[in-house]
Amino acid sequence: MKKTLVAIAAIGYFGLSVLLVAGLWYLWHRTDPAPAQPIAFPHTVHAGQLQIPCTHCHAYADRARSAGAPPLSTCMGCHSTIATEREEIRKLTRHYEEKRPVQWVRVYALPDFIYFSHKRHIKAGLACATCHGDVAGMKRVRRVNELVMGWCVSCHRVRGASRDCATCHK
Ligand code: HEC
Ligand code: HEC
Ligand code: HEC
Ligand code: HEC
Ligand code: HEC
Repeated sequence: MKKTLVAIAAIGYFGLSVLLVAGLWYLWHRTDPAPAQPIAFPHTVHAGQLQIPCTHCHAYADRARSAGAPPLSTCMGCHSTIATEREEIRKLTRHYEEKRPVQWVRVYALPDFIYFSHKRHIKAGLACATCHGDVAGMKRVRRVNELVMGWCVSCHRVRGASRDCATCHK
């Protein structure tokens, strides 16, 4: 009887530890698909209503690995006169005047050991929406594709692009 109780307790303890470790692993690896940004920048207004081209702000997408974030001077071209009384624009203006860049929270980020370049994909004729969804319709950017290996490789298979390990693992 005593032995059985000890065995049950041991199994219970083991099970609990496994659950705890699994839970912590999950929390550690999960990242918010639509994180709040330091300034609530709405793509719906800028890329949607105003139809500013994506590459006007993400100027390096067809030239470099990173698409890039716009300098605040791009924003101030309009916001030194537009909507200046709004709280979010006041924040923006303070950053600009104090020369403090805004620390935007990354929505899409690969681990450091992966090689990816926007340039090659844009030159191959892929639209931003193929990988990022309808950003112009998003008030806050939401990740629509998890950047797992299967996602990259399945498109490479369909498009006949390289699937050599060394293509993405340098
Ligand atoms: C083939 C898929 C694909 C296409 C097409 C694509 N992106 Fe990306 N984008 C990614 C991936 C993957 C990342 C994460 C890159 C990293 O962490 O190095 C990313 C990251 C970004 C980022 C944040 C980091 C950075 O590079 O500045 C921005 C902004 C961005 N993309 C904008 C765009 C825009 C604008 C277009 C269209 C002109 C576009 N992307 C087209 C896959 C794509
Ligand atoms: C071509 C002009 C233009 C550029 C460039 C521009 N904006 Fe805007 N922005 C607007 C207009 C127009 C509105 C809508 C104002 C309204 O609702 O009356 C707006 C609205 C906003 C709002 C919402 C304000 C609110 O609370 O309603 C934010 C935040 C914002 N812009 C931030 C930015 C940031 C950050 C940049 C640079 C990355 C930027 N804008 C670049 C024209 C521009
Ligand atoms: C007026 C400037 C402006 C325009 C136009 C614009 N963006 Fe952005 N974009 C930003 C800013 C500022 C951020 C960082 C804040 C945020 O995530 O909302 C951003 C963030 C992003 C991100 C998330 C980057 C990350 O952290 O991984 C993607 C993807 C993106 N934009 C794609 C697009 C696409 C696609 C278009 C065209 C449909 C577009 N953007 C048009 C200014 C702009
Ligand atoms: C929607 C389709 C699509 C997705 C998703 C995609 N790719 Fe690609 N990728 C392509 C195409 C098409 C090419 C070939 C471009 C060319 O021929 O120049 C390519 C080329 C590349 C190259 C250059 C290959 C070379 O020979 O040098 C790298 C590196 C790469 N992709 C990495 C990635 C990574 C990493 C991911 C995932 C995070 C990814 N790609 C997701 C379509 C895609
Ligand atoms: C088109 C791009 C691409 C190609 C080709 C590719 N990988 Fe990957 N691989 C990735 C990406 C992106 C990740 C990161 C996925 C994540 O974090 O979930 C990854 C992750 C991995 C991991 C997990 C690493 C870790 O520590 O989490 C292994 C192992 C791996 N790849 C092996 C391979 C092997 C072996 C090949 C060749 C048969 C290969 N990959 C080809 C894009 C690619």
